[in-house]
Amino acid sequence: MNIYLETYGCQMNEYDSELILSILKKADHQIVQSADEADVAFLNTCAIRENAHKKIYHRLDEMRGRKKRGQKLVVGVLGCMAQSLREELKDNAPVVDIIAGPDSYKRLPGLISEACGGDTGYDLSLSEYETYSDVAPVRVPGVNAWIAIMRGCDNFCTFCVVPYTRGRERSRSPQNIVEETQAIVAQGFKQVTLLGQNVNSYKYGNYDFADLMKMVGDVPGIRRVRFTSPHPKDFPLKLLQVMKDHPKLCNQIHLPLQSGSTEVLDRMNRTYSKQEFLDVVNVIRDTIPNVSLSTDIICGFCGETEQDFQDTVDVVEQVGFDSAFIFKYSERKNTIASRKFPDDVSEEIKTERVKKLVEIQRAISLARNEKEVGKTFDVLIEQPSKKNREEWLGRSDHNKGVVFAAPQHKPGDFVKVKITSAGTHTLRGEIVTPAIAFCV
Ligand code: SAH
Ligand code: SF4
Ligand code: F3S
Repeated sequence: MNIYLETYGCQMNEYDSELILSILKKADHQIVQSADEADVAFLNTCAIRENAHKKIYHRLDEMRGRKKRGQKLVVGVLGCMAQSLREELKDNAPVVDIIAGPDSYKRLPGLISEACGGDTGYDLSLSEYETYSDVAPVRVPGVNAWIAIMRGCDNFCTFCVVPYTRGRERSRSPQNIVEETQAIVAQGFKQVTLLGQNVNSYKYGNYDFADLMKMVGDVPGIRRVRFTSPHPKDFPLKLLQVMKDHPKLCNQIHLPLQSGSTEVLDRMNRTYSKQEFLDVVNVIRDTIPNVSLSTDIICGFCGETEQDFQDTVDVVEQVGFDSAFIFKYSERKNTIASRKFPDDVSEEIKTERVKKLVEIQRAISLARNEKEVGKTFDVLIEQPSKKNREEWLGRSDHNKGVVFAAPQHKPGDFVKVKITSAGTHTLRGEIVTPAIAFCV
């Protein structure tokens, strides 16, 4: 069969799509690049906010159109939205033939056969054990490879659908992760990003996240190790010390704040207060002086007052994140918040708060980037710059995007770049030519 796969949502979903491709190829299916050529079209979906759902319904309308026009097409919805909206998908979108959640991908070849025989196939069982550690992802060649070190989440932040879509937390063995890292080095990748919903609660026997980071950093040939996302509740000094001391572990932490108000954090079940978050940031910056910090923030969570919002602004200003993803609260079915708290902040106020915070953060990002002008960084070239294909986009160890011209180089090269100017999102620079010693 010709299979087409489209991916939405976070890096974990990107990684899952690589696993899905591997499972399907092993079952002798071919992967095609457009839905026009496909016998089976899969959408690997996200459920984190309502917008994510809207995109999929839109795509399903399009698939319905194809079927009506006579294309013989099996349509499958995979991923988080499949898991959380099974009933709605069946009712609202009769176009769907296959529904499979994040722990059911090994069943896909069977579900395809059933669907091609005219049946409708569903598998939404969540597993306590599935880590796909026996599946080798089919990766698009490039500079960075993802490796999921754990699956699921047990934190149950009250706003969040993930514990329901991805089930209980489980970690993969460190040996298995090290072997996958060796494999990606052999394939030519320079950087690995370790993935999980809550990476710093990684636990396998006596191994914790700091042990794992060191083991991965020690794999010969790997040049950079990053990770996402950690939870602020769990930042032991041991981990920070490993990050500081190990040259391969990048000085970058994505530290989701969600809110700066202790009352709101409490209702969110984030298990830290405003002050505790600020304390964690101080310890991080004391231990790793040139670390870059990014964050996620939700505006307009249930009961958020103007004072609560000001607390968020206060933390954002005190910390000075390098960048931030800022979202409007979007109520998710079956979450604790949807059962316990009314979604009582109006759409207008949510929008206004997001706008204000985005403006504040833009000014902070720009000011932080301007401080980098004049410095020289080791930059890993990733891809051509979107604005000018003659230039490269690369990244510093502390995750700053840098644009520069270097026609003699290619993605995967490490070069020294001196920063000449700064914007809100990226830096510009020029390549520093290594001094050449002439022997006369
Ligand atoms: N495990 C990650 C979160 C992944 S979801 C973590 O804990 O950081 C990415 C971000 O989406 C979250 O950090 C949060 O800011 C946002 N998010 C999650 N649920 C949301 C909701 N119901 N409405 C708006 N934003 C939400
Ligand atoms: Fe969701 Fe919280 Fe788990 Fe992140 S830690 S995935 S926000 S429940
Ligand atoms: Fe990721 Fe969206 Fe699922 S953010 S974990 S794909 S709900």
